Amino acid sequence: MTMELHLLEKIRQIKSKNDSDNHHDPYRPGYHLSPPFGLMNDPNGLIYFHGRFHVFYQWNPFETNHGIKFWGHFSSTDLLHWEEHPPALIPSEWYDKNGCYSGSAIEHEGKMYLFYTGNVKNRNGERESYQCLAVSEDGVYFEKKGPILHVPQGYTSHFRDPKVWQQDGRWYMVLGAQSNTFNGRAVLFSSMDLQHWEMLGPLTGSNRKYSEEFGYMWECPDFFHLQGKDILLFCPQGLEPKGLHFHNLYQSGYFAGRWIPGTNHYEHGEFTELDRGFDFYAPQTFVDHRNRRIMIAWMGMGDDHEQCHPTIEKGWIHSLTIPREMKIVGGHLYQHPVQELQKLRIGQPSIVNLDFHNGNHEYYASIHPQSEIIINVNSLINGRLEITIRNNIQLSYDPSNEIFTMARKKFADNRLEKRQCIVNHMRKLQMYLDSSSIEVFINDGQEVFTARFFADQKDDTFHISSEAEASLNLQLYSLQASCPA
Ligand code: FRU
Repeated sequence: MTMELHLLEKIRQIKSKNDSDNHHDPYRPGYHLSPPFGLMNDPNGLIYFHGRFHVFYQWNPFETNHGIKFWGHFSSTDLLHWEEHPPALIPSEWYDKNGCYSGSAIEHEGKMYLFYTGNVKNRNGERESYQCLAVSEDGVYFEKKGPILHVPQGYTSHFRDPKVWQQDGRWYMVLGAQSNTFNGRAVLFSSMDLQHWEMLGPLTGSNRKYSEEFGYMWECPDFFHLQGKDILLFCPQGLEPKGLHFHNLYQSGYFAGRWIPGTNHYEHGEFTELDRGFDFYAPQTFVDHRNRRIMIAWMGMGDDHEQCHPTIEKGWIHSLTIPREMKIVGGHLYQHPVQELQKLRIGQPSIVNLDFHNGNHEYYASIHPQSEIIINVNSLINGRLEITIRNNIQLSYDPSNEIFTMARKKFADNRLEKRQCIVNHMRKLQMYLDSSSIEVFINDGQEVFTARFFADQKDDTFHISSEAEASLNLQLYSLQASCPA
């Protein structure tokens, strides 16, 4: 049996055992993508191709840890209802035998091209990385074409996650890298035929345009033009916490600037975090047929808590975020839940107007595990506003210091941990709650907090309290489940 058939047979066996177990899992998301079993991490190869949205993802089907990686695959016509396909890439060849790592998709001459990193542990246990190509006519079955790019001089074998796009008749590829001096870099290549790639050099990196170090490795870069700005998304590893910033193990954020196409000349501003919560990493964007720039990220973090997720005992771990449309507002990247998500709303919302006057005030509701909650803050004067969700997530805003806080119960010991950021004037909160996740969009996507949480299945409580005068308008929607369970 070939290696590929052997691995597929192993997956088939797990799948049939899984189907026969058929256990109810209260933490399985209703409208977020999660793996049928095993571990999911980065979204890969996001593309709108021949009338369907495709989401591939890093998948270890055999275990709930970061062992070997396949490309799992879902597709959809509406970004809501997803169909599962056979794994698109299987780590079966000498150049990808220890993992088909992250990468991207493009359409060329009616075919889908996947670029990914072949991860190899050689005989001495050392890492090797190959940037590889696979091509498909139908977007489901892929023919591997092998390596198209080797690690250039000056870099360690932490060289991965190709993101490819076309501009002015040329192809470009940006890669996440580590220099021989152990600094993170985003490195740019260009090609006329998708096979031969010329290095244009680092776009930017730690200790290059910075006076300070900015991480020992940059993962999952993405580079695109949006509303007059050239945006570099990337995930630096090795940043120390600084004030309210960088409290997760790894970060995810962007530079906005100006790039001279055809060169690696890129002038940019400061690093801005994309998400201020606990579980957000490795985002990737694509442009759809309506010309929207849409981002999806891994709703996870590979930190010490990872192995404490209670879903592990059900044989799966992690999920992806909802698709978010990116816009630039005042030089800053905003994220909006894609409009399609409104179709998940069941019936009319419950609408509540709250006018809190002097003293302590409270409001209670019961919510569905899949809910969308919109709170318009008409006024909030000199006192903290606090929202508690299913006794696990606490959101608060203090107008006196302008700090927004998300606190959650730690998976390991139930103690509260928090993430915070400054929000100058909080006008609106929009929350997407799923069985075990929350995504909070503040002021129409100016800041976003994303987190997983694991509440008691029966706990449906939603509670608002305000220390001072406040006038709020609430809209509560229950949402339909739309993803494969
Ligand atoms: C980011 C990452 C990528 C790599 C992939 C492996 O989470 O480490 O850099 O390609 O995951 O699964």
